[in-house]
Amino acid sequence: MRHTHSYPSLAAPPALSWALILLLLLQPLPIVADCECGYSTTTTGGSGGSSDVVFSDLLESDFTRVDYLNGEYNGPRRWYRQAFTQSASASRGPFGVAYVTENAMPDITTTRKDSKTSNTDSKGGGGGGGGGLELVVGSKVVDGMVQNAEVATSGLDYFYGTYRVELKVTDVPGTCTAFFWYFNDTQEIDIEFLSHEFNRANNSYPVNLVLQTAQSRAAGYDATRTGAGTFQKHSLPFDPTAGFHEYRFDFLRDRVVFYADGTVLAVMAGGEGIPSRGGNLLLSHWSNGNPGWSAGPPATDARSVVSYVKAGGKKVCKIPEGERGFFFSNPGSGGSGDGGGAGANGQGNNEGGRHNNATGISTGRLSSLALAVALGAVIWIVGV
Ligand SMILES: *[C@@H]1O[C@H](CO)[C@@H](O)[C@H](O)[C@H]1NC(C)=O
Ligand SMILES: *[C@@H]1O[C@H](CO)[C@@H](O)[C@H](O)[C@H]1NC(C)=O
Ligand SMILES: *[C@@H]1O[C@H](CO)[C@@H](O)[C@H](O)[C@H]1NC(C)=O
Repeated sequence: MRHTHSYPSLAAPPALSWALILLLLLQPLPIVADCECGYSTTTTGGSGGSSDVVFSDLLESDFTRVDYLNGEYNGPRRWYRQAFTQSASASRGPFGVAYVTENAMPDITTTRKDSKTSNTDSKGGGGGGGGGLELVVGSKVVDGMVQNAEVATSGLDYFYGTYRVELKVTDVPGTCTAFFWYFNDTQEIDIEFLSHEFNRANNSYPVNLVLQTAQSRAAGYDATRTGAGTFQKHSLPFDPTAGFHEYRFDFLRDRVVFYADGTVLAVMAGGEGIPSRGGNLLLSHWSNGNPGWSAGPPATDARSVVSYVKAGGKKVCKIPEGERGFFFSNPGSGGSGDGGGAGANGQGNNEGGRHNNATGISTGRLSSLALAVALGAVIWIVGV
């Protein structure tokens, strides 16, 4: 006989260690993933029905409470002022355009300056906060350029999602106030207010809903010539210059649905019109004097004010191949978060703290599990 004694591993494990192992294996095993929960919204379907769409990434920017442009806020969901100029020919207008940083003014301290009513006219976000983000188009043309304002998200990964802004549009004719998603000039989704189109006399307040596509490029970027699949003008049932209202677009795989205060204005579908990749979000207030679009420049400085932007978007959670530990502790992958300041500073972001926290919990539990299994095995082997 080769073996003079039996190996410990062949012995039946004592009941105590079995019980220990079983107990630990029965513990719920936490699974850590980058998309731990989602945001669901009901959106109008292409054929008139509704469907629930789930999004997993959240952007909440309350411009009445947080200064995303200056100051201490430096999370991953920051907004930046744009600073660039375009000649008259590049801007396709009689004037050039200058996007100047001074014309994008965050105001979280005072009450709204140009509000016709009080601060409380805001529906939701921002009530009781400061003035919000003011975007100004100057009446004074400098070196042939209208002085405009634009801010953009730092994130470039906004893809299918629901995108909402609450704002009050200037009542000074001759500007374009825009909330838009952008990848390039032929992949763009716009909500645009042309203040020269507002007509108090007949209570007419149109909003322009646009998908910029290869078609609009072919039409010299005149989306109005590309048909209802990519351009629609709708009259709002309220005066957008008198108060804050929420404007929204849901950007889906096969359609874009536009809303005002939760009411559907338009559904645009059409393969080519729907962008096929992620982009960023922008808020813009501009004029280049083009009588066919922005008109202007405005006779007096024109201000549009933004109180919030909210977005639920798609974040693709890819399981990294060859990373054996991914589901167990996922070390370090939450590090780009800002600590998830949802609440206090009005900046919600589920990529940050929640993820780190979950990682912490799972690492902790799994290591105690590993320790206990090892302990159980030792007890079993030494035959205690
Ligand atoms: C925009 O991007 C799409 C997709 O990559 C591309 O097909 C299109 O040519 C681009 N348009 C412009 C104006 O560069
Ligand atoms: C209001 O008047 C403007 C210009 O005078 C016109 O273009 C528009 O169609 C009118 N709107 C309504 C709803 O009558
Ligand atoms: C993790 O969770 C604990 C308790 O739920 C909380 O006190 C702590 O602030 C969280 N940490 C982070 C980074 O969010």
